Amino acid sequence: MRSASDCTSNAVRVDVLGLPAVMTATQKLLLLEGVHPVAREALQARGYQVEALAHALEEDELVRAVKGVNALGIRSKTQVTPRVLEAASDLLVVGAFCIGTNQVALDVANTKGVPVFNAPYSNTRSVAELVLSEIIALSRRLTEVSGRAHKGEWVKSAAGAHEVRGRVVGIVGYGHIGSQLSVLGEALGLRIIYYDIIKKLPLGNAKVCETLEHLLEQADFVTLHVPATPSTENMIGEEQLARMKRGACLINASRGTVVQIPALAAALKSGHIGGAAIDVFPQEPASTKEKFVSELQGLANVILTPHIGGSTEEAQEAIGHEVADSLVRFLEQGSTLGAVNFPQLDAGAARGAHRILNVHRNVPGVLGAVNGIMSELGANIEGQQLMTDANIGYLIMDVARADAEKVCARVAKLETSIKTRLVY
Ligand code: NAI
Repeated sequence: MRSASDCTSNAVRVDVLGLPAVMTATQKLLLLEGVHPVAREALQARGYQVEALAHALEEDELVRAVKGVNALGIRSKTQVTPRVLEAASDLLVVGAFCIGTNQVALDVANTKGVPVFNAPYSNTRSVAELVLSEIIALSRRLTEVSGRAHKGEWVKSAAGAHEVRGRVVGIVGYGHIGSQLSVLGEALGLRIIYYDIIKKLPLGNAKVCETLEHLLEQADFVTLHVPATPSTENMIGEEQLARMKRGACLINASRGTVVQIPALAAALKSGHIGGAAIDVFPQEPASTKEKFVSELQGLANVILTPHIGGSTEEAQEAIGHEVADSLVRFLEQGSTLGAVNFPQLDAGAARGAHRILNVHRNVPGVLGAVNGIMSELGANIEGQQLMTDANIGYLIMDVARADAEKVCARVAKLETSIKTRLVY
């Protein structure tokens, strides 16, 4: 059995995806939880041995299954615990084919030299489209009229129904989703204003608001696209709802901690708020078997959805592509760009050289020791990048082909080395 600090290497293969010819056939990938087939296809096309299972594995099963696995793909159910990581002596990388990464023991993975990748932005478009549809649905009170038609009532009336053209949408959080919504909304004739704590370039004709209060006072629709942080916790409560225009609507497809639901329910019941579309809740059922309970149930012109803002087949496919791509770039080039628990390095392709990837304990003197080996062996460094975090250092070093294996073996044996491998 190999030890964690042995130098491992890859076998040569054909060019695909625009990346240089490298390894793969000897590397084993295990994908769980019915990860979208595009991921398996992309990885197999690069020559990896891929096993794909439709379900999650329990800890004991996973401890057995990860033996000999070089890359593990999961979604949100599989728990990658410290025990799993301990058993996974050949594991180089984890791909979370989803947004969250709480299911992985990130710190333990970090100290074992295993980066974890996810796909935080593959479902941006899906959320923006949902919100756009809700702006129209709330303006036309679609849930109400549809509900009544289902019950046999024919309420043909224009009262309370509006076009959205020219209406003001206030976007709170002008990040990936907020700015995408801004562009799509303008195409519909909506007037966009936004508030963000960071200075953001306004797209199209969007106008920035200096304060949240200013945005709340002007918008016909307030839509929230902020992360869950201390600054956004309970960001919209009684005071903020009172500041909104009478009859304005609130949309939250961000995080359940952002809106105080009792205050929203009261504002809807009083008629001050004209409607709401809520996709995320402070307490969400852990599974489909658990009952969903909310104070907003049964209120007029309120759209409730079970945290499906980003849940589309297109988003799943995009996640499959994005994470498979991250796995390939890490396995073949050592790129950790986008890893959630790792120093970020991206050196591109190693042109005309072999690449040594070394994860080590972050203590003084490692680079000196590595460079000492290079000069002892009379080897030439063609490129070198180092990045550290609190626990580990990550070194990417391109070395002349003739010297690479010798250097890699010596670097792997350094007492500070956690994981060392060579890519061609
Ligand atoms: P992002 O990180 O690209 O953008 C967030 C923006 O909010 C940033 O521009 C940031 O500066 C801003 N911000 C942070 N704190 C703020 C504050 N106190 N006031 C105003 N602005 C603030 O994030 P992205 O991808 O646009 O996602 C936004 C939210 O949507 C996240 O909470 C994410 O979890 C959620 N989300 C929900 C989904 C669903 O299924 N409903 C799916 C995908 C994302």
